[in-house]
Amino acid sequence: MSADARFRFRPTGAVIDLSALTRNYRRLRERAGRIEIFPVVKSDGYGHGAVAVARRLEEEGADRFAVASAEEGIALRRGGIAGQILILGFSDHHDAPVWRNYGLIPSLYDIAQARAIAGAVRGSSERQPVHLKLDTGMGRLGISPGELADMIALLRESPGLELAGTFTQLARAQEPGSPATDRQIETMRGCLAALSAAGLDPGLVHVANSAAVLLHPSSLFQAFRPGLALYGVLPSEEIDPNGWEPVMTVEIQAPVEYAGDLMGDLNGRRGRIQGMDTKGATQFIRAQAPMAEMLNYQNDLTAMTQGRASFTMEFDHYDFVPQLQADKIIAAAKAAKTGEEEEEE
Ligand SMILES: Cc1ncc(COP(=O)(O)O)c(C=O)c1O
Repeated sequence: MSADARFRFRPTGAVIDLSALTRNYRRLRERAGRIEIFPVVKSDGYGHGAVAVARRLEEEGADRFAVASAEEGIALRRGGIAGQILILGFSDHHDAPVWRNYGLIPSLYDIAQARAIAGAVRGSSERQPVHLKLDTGMGRLGISPGELADMIALLRESPGLELAGTFTQLARAQEPGSPATDRQIETMRGCLAALSAAGLDPGLVHVANSAAVLLHPSSLFQAFRPGLALYGVLPSEEIDPNGWEPVMTVEIQAPVEYAGDLMGDLNGRRGRIQGMDTKGATQFIRAQAPMAEMLNYQNDLTAMTQGRASFTMEFDHYDFVPQLQADKIIAAAKAAKTGEEEEEE
């Protein structure tokens, strides 16, 4: 597509490079060896388009995916995704027919929720696969070690449930020096031992997110769940950025009375902003930057991708909000030009 066609209706665009996704996926595969991978495609694939991302990863051999909700799982099925789909977040017993119809796997993370689900699937002709989410220290969703005995009792007396996997979420994997990760792994091992001692097979055990797979090899059990790294967003400065490629870049095009390079690298790194594309007598600039460069923290990414909200990019001493205020770029460009002229004088 020509640049002009791409910018026909609005001056900004998010450009998704699925070949970069493929290369990031292969790098993760190399890092993790032969263990299973659950690409995390929640929040519409972190804003990259869950179906497009999952399709591409299926072509690469991925056969399991993790989403946040049943709704996201349904969207993947409707998009033709055939692999297993694990719901990491909210699930309740009302959704049991949906899990069956769409082949989705809910997580059990609360005793009352699990009890209601066990009741809803009792007597079904096929057992409902579930994964057990343990809270080993994150303090969010999950069965705590203190509740595990009750959970074990419930699983043993619930023939309608099939424990297909057991997992936990690491709270501080992005901090290599933090003792929290080793503590969580130890707690996880204790919980797995308790399940085994009770005669329960934990199924597929998975712990690591992106930061963990890159910084804590000891967290690789039988599967891992990368999100950020797949999209080329590195969760820690401790990770060597070499070779990781941003899947999403943002491009902004706006007419300016300015020619030539406006600025060198954006934020001193991979982004660039330069004078480009002449249209009539007007110069267009296109700013292009990896998403990660524009965001302070991954929560911003979630907020942005979920709500398609705007975000702020630091542009040297100018801040601007590309989706809403392309005209500010013009102002910035004019200011830059004026500044330059003043310097020249
Ligand atoms: C339970 C769970 N596992 C794995 C991930 C992926 O984490 P990351 O994007 O840091 O790789 C997420 C993302 O939020 C998650 O909620």
